[in-house]
Amino acid sequence: MLGNRTPAQFMRRYWQKKPLLIRQAIPDIQAPLTRGELFELADLDDVESRLITHFRSSWNLEHGPFAPDELPSLKKREWTLLVQGVNLHHDRAHALMNRFRFIPDARLDDLMISYATDGGGVGAHFDSYDVFLLQVHGKRRWRIGAQRDLSLKPGLPLKVLQHFEPEEEWVLEPGDMLYLPPHIAHDGVAVGECMTCSIGFRAPSTHELTGQFLYHLAERSGQSASADAHYRDPKQVPVGHPAQLPPLLVERVGAILANVNWDENDVAAFLGSYLSEPKANVVFDPPARPMNEQKFVERVKKTGVRLDRKSILLYDKRSYFLNGEAEKLSAKARKWLPELADTRRLEAKRFVTLTDDSTMTVLLHEWYCAGWIQVDAYA
Ligand code: SIN
Ligand code: CO
Repeated sequence: MLGNRTPAQFMRRYWQKKPLLIRQAIPDIQAPLTRGELFELADLDDVESRLITHFRSSWNLEHGPFAPDELPSLKKREWTLLVQGVNLHHDRAHALMNRFRFIPDARLDDLMISYATDGGGVGAHFDSYDVFLLQVHGKRRWRIGAQRDLSLKPGLPLKVLQHFEPEEEWVLEPGDMLYLPPHIAHDGVAVGECMTCSIGFRAPSTHELTGQFLYHLAERSGQSASADAHYRDPKQVPVGHPAQLPPLLVERVGAILANVNWDENDVAAFLGSYLSEPKANVVFDPPARPMNEQKFVERVKKTGVRLDRKSILLYDKRSYFLNGEAEKLSAKARKWLPELADTRRLEAKRFVTLTDDSTMTVLLHEWYCAGWIQVDAYA
């Protein structure tokens, strides 16, 4: 997929560094969804979609959901529908995204699919994230440039560069893929009807990380023994300037805040929970009539289990994090949980060898009832 490069070579030479065009990265690729299936997704409440039109040279942006009759005619030029998080809803899209798991799950974000009619696109822009742009149907002309000037046209509903200075240009055909590191200016224009998959990454800003971490610390300190202790000032003297902020108050509160501390374990615990938290619009699908634990175990012995497409399971040496919840990684769980997290499944045979650990079967059954894991279909 990386054009005769190993993942190690790709990561060393290109990742976060420079663009790379890979012709026939995935030969004979089929679009993971048909146009009709994509339009169906765009009609759902729990799917994030956008419609960008460029009719009469004017950019317009609308947010979904879109009923089929709310989309412009297929005969009309210069519009595009972008559907985010397709990997959460379709196995083929999920499988395609999994091919990029040589990059840590903690960095992978989602697979977006765009459909465009001839001339359609989102305008010349830059992103703050790495992206693999995989052409899956029809052709798209990409122009890219490493310009410094990233100023945007004012007053538009979407980010369009004020001055785009393309340096390179290619027409991508199905199976071709373009990797772009953050901040490379790019413009992709459909040549006839086309579909493009964007495998996107998440890179939280310092601002976001700081805010979320402080929030995590606040939650943690709420559980500490001294959390309810209040500020005291038995030596306060009467004042002539009641509105003045007492310097002693500032000093004392400063001392309380200086006691807030954390170590690497707190950072890991925060990151695990934060990065495994499902997006706000994710809804799990628990089984309508769940099997009891015994039936569940019998069944999984024959079929194996896999993580649901929507589940995020991360781990480190001490803990695991499933869909935002942190738990200690016990010595017993260490035998199977990292394997489930890395491969996203436990084969039937493997499960059979593990079933004498009842803590595992209890836990997996719980996750199954929550819709976090799925029993595989009979082979
Ligand atoms: C698209 O697929 O049309 C847009 C993807 C991008 O430029 O980030
Ligand atoms: Co982009």
